[in-house]
Amino acid sequence: MIVTGASRGIGATVAELVVAHGGGVVLVARTESALAEVAAGLDGPVATVTGDVSDPAVADAAVTAASGLPGALWGLVNNAGINPHYGPATDTSHESWVEVVRVNLLGAAAFARAVGAALAQTGSGRIVNISSIAGLTGLPNIVAYNATKAGLDAMTRTMAVELGPIGVLVNSVAPGTISTEMVAELLEANAALREKLVAKTPLGRVGSPAEAAWPIVFLLTDAASFITGEVLTVDGGRLAAG
Ligand SMILES: NC(=O)c1ccc[n+]([C@@H]2O[C@H](COP(=O)([O-])OP(=O)(O)OC[C@H]3O[C@@H](n4cnc5c(N)ncnc54)[C@H](OP(=O)(O)O)[C@@H]3O)[C@@H](O)[C@H]2O)c1
Repeated sequence: MIVTGASRGIGATVAELVVAHGGGVVLVARTESALAEVAAGLDGPVATVTGDVSDPAVADAAVTAASGLPGALWGLVNNAGINPHYGPATDTSHESWVEVVRVNLLGAAAFARAVGAALAQTGSGRIVNISSIAGLTGLPNIVAYNATKAGLDAMTRTMAVELGPIGVLVNSVAPGTISTEMVAELLEANAALREKLVAKTPLGRVGSPAEAAWPIVFLLTDAASFITGEVLTVDGGRLAAG
């Protein structure tokens, strides 16, 4: 299993769960020291690939690493993502758009292409793209992020249709607010925003990385063998509440 964005947060937790259940994992992210720390905590077949997900050579290196690791070439959790800009759409610069699209969408596309082609050779496997409820609603102030996450869900549906007949299942997991580094700074700096998010969530709190990771792992298991092309929301009921 290749997990991108595995140096912390949801990706690191997915890697822990996959290894705990007997799978091999290739961890991908830009920060070598953080990857090494995560790898050192895992008791199983693990390799690391350091690089930017938007570089197709990094995706190819991850596939090569997975091929050399027992039991590792059976899927992809396309999890690396960024959400660095907060502000109205009309103030979002072209450069901001390019940065977010490059990582969230082109990076995921590079990995889905490389891993999808490798899985097609084996005739089985799983791809789980980590999108967001932000791609399913009109959440203000993060327009580029929202657009990339909606794009990921579109990629999920198309690849599910193309790869289903050869036995490769492709799904999205769309989390609500999960307590990781990605949102910590924003929510700590903006207590009113945090209160608003929690108030709009029927379960009345943000989720933990494990609460996002378990549904991702579910989609990798035999229990999910008839699910493909799906977007599974994991948001404490936030979307249902409107
Ligand atoms: N947390 C939430 O509330 C939430 C909600 C909905 C969806 N999501 C999605 O869930 C996924 C994981 O988010 P998270 O909350 O766990 O975020 P996080 O804690 O910020 O982790 C992001 C991971 O992505 C890696 N990464 C970022 N840019 C990269 C790049 N260009 N190339 C390679 N790796 C890169 C980071 O490692 P390096 O910095 O070392 O590269 C890190 O491992 C993201 O796709 C995010 O959009 C999160």
